Amino acid sequence: MQNLDKLKAEILSEIAAAKTPDALETLRISALGKKGHITALMKELGALGPEQKKTFGAALNQLKGEVNARLQEKKNALETKALNAQLEQDHLDVTLPPEPASEGRIHPVTQVLEELMEIFTAMDFKIAEGPHIEDDFHNFTALNIPPEHPARQMHDTFYLKPGTDGARKLLRTHTSPVQIRTMLSEKPPIRIIAPGRTFRSDSDATHTPMFHQLEGLVVDEFTTMGHLKGTIEAFVKAFFEVDDVKMRFRPSYFPFTEPSAEVDVGCERSKAGIKIGTGKEWMEILGCGMIHPKVLEYCNLDPKKYQGFAFGCGIDRLAMLKYGTPDLRAFFDSDLRWLRHYGFRALDIPTLAGGLSR
Ligand code: PHE
Repeated sequence: MQNLDKLKAEILSEIAAAKTPDALETLRISALGKKGHITALMKELGALGPEQKKTFGAALNQLKGEVNARLQEKKNALETKALNAQLEQDHLDVTLPPEPASEGRIHPVTQVLEELMEIFTAMDFKIAEGPHIEDDFHNFTALNIPPEHPARQMHDTFYLKPGTDGARKLLRTHTSPVQIRTMLSEKPPIRIIAPGRTFRSDSDATHTPMFHQLEGLVVDEFTTMGHLKGTIEAFVKAFFEVDDVKMRFRPSYFPFTEPSAEVDVGCERSKAGIKIGTGKEWMEILGCGMIHPKVLEYCNLDPKKYQGFAFGCGIDRLAMLKYGTPDLRAFFDSDLRWLRHYGFRALDIPTLAGGLSR
């Protein structure tokens, strides 16, 4: 018995001093393994008399139980310690500014596109898309621009080589073909915007062969020019972030709208740049009108039942006006110095509630 108390004190102090799970396991084996000290004593039990066997056996079992319990306790403690150390090391401060993201910049066109989507989705518009390579029907004919129509010349179209059927596909010259695709595939009420790339063979300080447009389309049974005006006014105020804006709807002509109008906003030019909303000068920002009955018919919609309005504007132009970038061509030069100057921080996502541009 004397021996057992000594053995117990030894084993327990070794357990208490163990520093790693491996050291603990070695201790376990040396006490309770096949050749362990306690196991060896268990083996000696058989040689004892019945009375001794009983008391010594009980004491051994108690020792075994206690050693096991301490081993488990120590194991848990070591594991918790290891986990805490690991957590301490992997510690992640989610409030720190993300370094890689702060290096990159959002292109002004992407920024304006996101602002536009934020404005129009808040007015319950959905986002629609169409292909860059279009056919004659969607880009022209269904928009009431028949083959001999002079408007075709004004579009400076890029044509592709003729296909097997002899027909030449083209790069869409505006986003208006998405009007046709949407009206052919959806039933009114329709309320969409279609942002995207458009192409015309044209290049100077305010024109690039590839540019971006935003199309808007609303078709319903009771849509009026009043709705068109209200929508455009709400959009212009939200986009230029002004409470009031001087606007005029100037009669114009597009084959696919009747009546048609161009929208000008009041502006003021100074050395500091151009201020939108007030002033003596006018700046044209978009084309719009009520959908021509013929266009509705091309899309199998009865013009006696349905009316709608459409508008289209240049996204790059809006970006130039709002953010004061002078030359359109620089937009697409991929010059990092330009992008660092005019670009936006990646995490400043435009929201109506938080401010579009801040
Ligand atoms: N598609 C016209 C353009 O490219 C703009 C427009 C769209 C005008 C919709 C009226 C209605 O100039």
